[in-house]
Amino acid sequence: MDSRDGAVEPPVHALEPSAEQMSAMLARVSELIIEHVVTLPDQPASYATDGRTEARALAEALPENSGDFAQLMRVLFEDAIPTSFNTAGPGYLAYIPGGGLFPSAVADFIATAVNRYVGVWVAAPALVQLEMNVVRWFCEIVGYPEGSGGILTSGGSLSNFTAIVTARRERLPEAFWSGTIYTSDQTHHSVRKAAVLAGFPEANVREIPSNDRFEMRSDALRARIMEDRAAGLVPFLIVGSAGTTNTGAIDPLDALADIAEQESLWLHVDGAYGAFFSMTERGKELLNGIARADSITLDPHKGLFLPYGTGALLVRNEDSLRRAHATFADYMPVMQNDADFVDFCDVSPELSRDFRGLRAWLPIKLFGIGAFRDGLDEKMDLARWAADELRGIPDMQIVAEPHLSLTAFRLQPGGCSGEELDALNRDLLARVNAKQNVYLTGTVLDGRFALRICVLSFRTHMDRMELCVADLREAADAVRRDALPAKTGGLA
Ligand SMILES: Cc1ncc(COP(=O)(O)O)c(C=O)c1O
Repeated sequence: MDSRDGAVEPPVHALEPSAEQMSAMLARVSELIIEHVVTLPDQPASYATDGRTEARALAEALPENSGDFAQLMRVLFEDAIPTSFNTAGPGYLAYIPGGGLFPSAVADFIATAVNRYVGVWVAAPALVQLEMNVVRWFCEIVGYPEGSGGILTSGGSLSNFTAIVTARRERLPEAFWSGTIYTSDQTHHSVRKAAVLAGFPEANVREIPSNDRFEMRSDALRARIMEDRAAGLVPFLIVGSAGTTNTGAIDPLDALADIAEQESLWLHVDGAYGAFFSMTERGKELLNGIARADSITLDPHKGLFLPYGTGALLVRNEDSLRRAHATFADYMPVMQNDADFVDFCDVSPELSRDFRGLRAWLPIKLFGIGAFRDGLDEKMDLARWAADELRGIPDMQIVAEPHLSLTAFRLQPGGCSGEELDALNRDLLARVNAKQNVYLTGTVLDGRFALRICVLSFRTHMDRMELCVADLREAADAVRRDALPAKTGGLA
């Protein structure tokens, strides 16, 4: 909005920046973001403080008056962002890593700047189509047939929740309290949480024991279903895992599908971590049977390297989602009923929501799905390589072999009690993380603490894995030197 003499006029409305102000904001942000992204590999993998001081320093009162954009960016980039795990960097090998593809950030910017409404088809038919394409591509990736469908969610927890509600509404009467749910003792806690949120007593969730590979035991599952039926309960849902968070274990999906079929139960597969590996040759073999599930959770913010806040729930029969969410309101627009199209609010718990499809659509179109497949293959290779290297460290035991891209391990020198082993391995974890080249987390397996490496960031390559193994080797030597002399006479 230049005046005739070229001077920049202030905006007419306080909430509407001028064209020049928008350009200036974008120019500054793009400088900051590019600098941030290109230096991600050099940034520490985690932060060195306990975070309390930094967090408290940023508590603030509701501001009445305007602030300075440059100053606000300094707060973000200098004070806030550095006090965080570097979840977008190559050294983040903790939990299940997320992604953060740059084109997705661009897509989010476009989506929020145009702020179109995709909750109902009629409000933005062409944009809804782009998101529908993404859902269809995901169905194709897991091998789902015609008639399948799904929704993009904010993450795996919400996908699991929606799946459980859908299964409940498809398989149980309105008074559903005697319905029982079967999952393994390795399942993600979001499954139990979802069951409770869906209205079930927690005691109705059966944790079926897993075998020595941490996979659900189908014989124990069958036995428990029989036992519950005999007690007058109503088994209705099996939740299998396609890649557990603890060890990456994949339940025997084909066997679970057989049982579900024979017993007329709904089979949901939590593939938040593992389902996208179906794109790879090895993954397809490991996940055999996944397409027989009635519903599948996938987390594009894990296996497709997208930013946090992007989950997906697929169902074999799209009508099941529609039936589970059916309701009406006088003020709603008339929904179209062309089978080619969908109103997302008709098949999901959400009405207004972000246009999250764009952050998947843009990078997939831009890079092609082959780039994602190659990325996942590389992560599988890196995890295998790491496990082989770890085997060479004295007293190191691989507790869970990498099937997908996750391995669990612990130092296990002879002569230590269980508590001593736990303390030793917690110390090992702390020492590795203190180096800040990688960030690892642990878990408890067979009652004892273990460390994990989960390789899933698109930015993690061999150079970082070499660093990870070198740090682990050095830390393991130090732990054994400092903690074990009294027991073993020092390094063996
Ligand atoms: C196997 C599994 N299921 C479900 C979830 C929950 O997903 P989200 O964190 O996206 O809600 C996770 C998260 O790590 C997971 O690993």
